[in-house]
Formats: sequence, C-alpha cells, structure tokens
Amino acid sequence: MKIVVIIPTYNEKENISRLILALEEQFKKISHEMHILVVDDSSPDGTGEIVREYSRKNQNVHLLSGQKQGLGAAYVRGMRYAIEKLGSDAVIEMDADFQHKPEDVPRLVTALDEGSDFVIGSRYIPGGKIPKWSFSRRLLSSGGNIMSRAATGMFKIHDTTAGFRAIRTDLINKISLENIKVQGYSFQINLLYQAFLNKAKIKEIPVEFLERKEGETKIGKGDVLEALIFVWAIRLERSETFIKFAVVGASGVVVNLGVFYVLFRIFGVSDIIASPLAIETSIISNFLLNNFWTFGERQTETKFHVKGLKFNLVSFVALGVSWTTFIALTRLLNLRPEELAQFIGIIPATFVNYFLNSYWTFKETNKEPVLAGK
Ligand code: GDD
Ligand code: MN
Repeated sequence: MKIVVIIPTYNEKENISRLILALEEQFKKISHEMHILVVDDSSPDGTGEIVREYSRKNQNVHLLSGQKQGLGAAYVRGMRYAIEKLGSDAVIEMDADFQHKPEDVPRLVTALDEGSDFVIGSRYIPGGKIPKWSFSRRLLSSGGNIMSRAATGMFKIHDTTAGFRAIRTDLINKISLENIKVQGYSFQINLLYQAFLNKAKIKEIPVEFLERKEGETKIGKGDVLEALIFVWAIRLERSETFIKFAVVGASGVVVNLGVFYVLFRIFGVSDIIASPLAIETSIISNFLLNNFWTFGERQTETKFHVKGLKFNLVSFVALGVSWTTFIALTRLLNLRPEELAQFIGIIPATFVNYFLNSYWTFKETNKEPVLAGK
C-alpha cells in the first residue's frame, strides 16, 4: 500500500522538522510505501519553507500550500491531493505538534493491515490517555465527545473528535469529500459520521495524547460554535426524516381507516378482505408522499417505478405484520371494534416499514469515486 501521512500546519516551525525526522524513523518499521504531505496554510512563521527544503531532498516529503480556511478545509485539500496526485491507498491524519506520538503510527497501520477501513487513535478507551488538562479543557473535549455521540448515534465510538487516524482511500472515495460541510475542527466528527453512515469497519486503538510543548493550540471559538451547530444539525436531520415518515404514516392511517370503514361498514365487504385492501390504498398514498417529501432529498439512482415496487414489497412485509396483529387481536383475543385492532396493527408495522424503506428502498446511492486511487 501507499500511505500518506497528512499533517496540517499553521505556525509549527518549532515542531515540523523534528516531526518529519521522527516519522522517517518510524517508517523503517513499516513495510508499506510511506509518504508525508504537509498541508501548510501559508504560515507566517515560515513552516512552509522548512517543508519545501525537505521536499527537495526527500522524495517522500510533499508540501501543499494554501490559504488559511480552517483545519477541516486543510484536510479536505490534503486528502484530495493525496488521492488524486499521489495515488495513495490510505491516509493518516496527524497533528504537527507531537501531541500524537510518531511511535503510534506503525500501530495505526497494523490495524489497517488487519482489515479496518477507519482506525482511530483513541484517548477514551482503556489504555488511552489525555494530558493533565484544566477542568475547562477537559470539559470541552469530553463534552464535545458526548454530544457528538448522542447527536449522531455513534454510541459505540468513544473518541469521535480524535485527530490521529488512519483511513483507507476507498472509503474516502465512497464518502465523497463534497459531503464534508464544515471548515474547522468539527471536520473530524463529520468525516467519521460519513464513514459510520457508509458502514465502514471502524476500529479504535488506544493512544496517549501528550501535552503540547512548542507553539500553541489553534482551536478557536468559531470551531466550537461550528461543532455545536453541526452536531445539532445532524440530530435534526436524523429526526426530521423520522418525523416526516411518521407524519406520512399518520396520513396513511386516515386513508387506511377511511377505506376500511367504507368497504366494511358501507359495502359490507368481509373484514378479512377489507383490511388488506384498505392498507394497499394507504401504501400508494404513503409511497408518493415519502418519495417526494420524506426522502425527497436523498439522491438515489433507483428508478421511480423500482422504488415504488420496493416500497410495495416492504409494505407487504409490513402488511403481513399488521394483518397478523389484526387477526391475533380479533380472532384470538376477540377485540372489538375491529377498527381498534386495525389501528393497533399499524404500530409494529410502522417500525418494520421505516427501517426497510430507509435502508433499502430510499437508500442513498454512493457517489462516483473521485478517482480509483490505485
Ligand atoms: N493547515 C492548517 N490550517 N492547519 C491547521 C489549522 C488551519 O487552519 N488549524 C490548526 N492546524 C494544525 C496545527 O498546526 C496542528 O498541526 C494541527 O492542525 C492540530 O492543531 P492544534 O491547534 O494543535 O489542535 P488541538 O491540539 O487543539 O486539537 C487536537 O485535538 C482535537 C481533539 O481534542 C487535534 O488533533 C484536533 O484534530 C482534535 O479534534
Ligand atoms: Mn495540538
């Protein structure tokens, strides 16, 4: 594999030379082709010039210069460059300030070798460590973690904001960097969340996060604000779909019961037949509303009629669930009126319906890869 260690820098002249040398030392222990890509945002302290010197002498050291737009923006540019220009198979994210130990790089690579797509150098699993931080710094870090886990549903991941990670290029291509919506430090959460949505094989390995000795942190209030807005936007986005689905479901209930009433009470159709007929009518109205409204923004390549068929198929599964419930309630438990049994049957059916439709019928098609990357 060709692996590129991407190091974003802004005013890291005290650290960058030592880090490049320390990494070259570690690369000797790794059997892959290792590269270093420093993404420097025109640091006024001359970090870029130092790196340029190294890149002249060392074939595996590269410099990408740009304007300061934030840590996330720097990583997006760096990843694009690593994939498109350097043809990397995997990238490693790492800070320039020695808070991440160069000795841990081979361990990240081993985890990739063992089959993971996304390896997190984690501070919050047994064996991982944070420095003796002030209460407020600790609160910022653990608060950010707890909040992002709760908002995104990534409960199984303990360090969602970590900046020391190894990621396969195939996965980044699947995610598509256009889906990254943030500029600052919340990039870390955003990229991880996209990987999570793509069902990537994510693994945490414990690392010790050291104290910064030279230079200073660049995290700003803007980053905190952006992270806050970002995680709550995800939360809303996630529940918005569900709320819409539930609203559509409720409209379907009206259709369902209305049709059932007309067939059963007015036309005297047998309840065993009236029940599925009423459901099928509501399936059609539900499909139209879900397709154009609930999941209207999802980009799928699936044709309208295929989605319609899938939706119907899912609905038949749900119909089975609903009808079985109906029969059980009316025939076994003798529940009356029949409308109540018909109504209760909708509840288990809705859960089955939501999950199958969200993950199958209206599943977002993965975007075309930026580049094959091999
Ligand atoms: N190119 C570029 N542009 N680099 C930047 C920028 C930017 O706007 N902002 C920061 N960097 C570089 C720094 O020079 C450093 O190499 C690295 O990004 C991390 O910056 P720090 O300022 O040292 O971050 P930190 O120690 O506060 O945060 C670390 O821990 C966080 C979790 O607690 C990082 O690893 C974060 O990614 C992580 O989320
Ligand atoms: Mn740092």
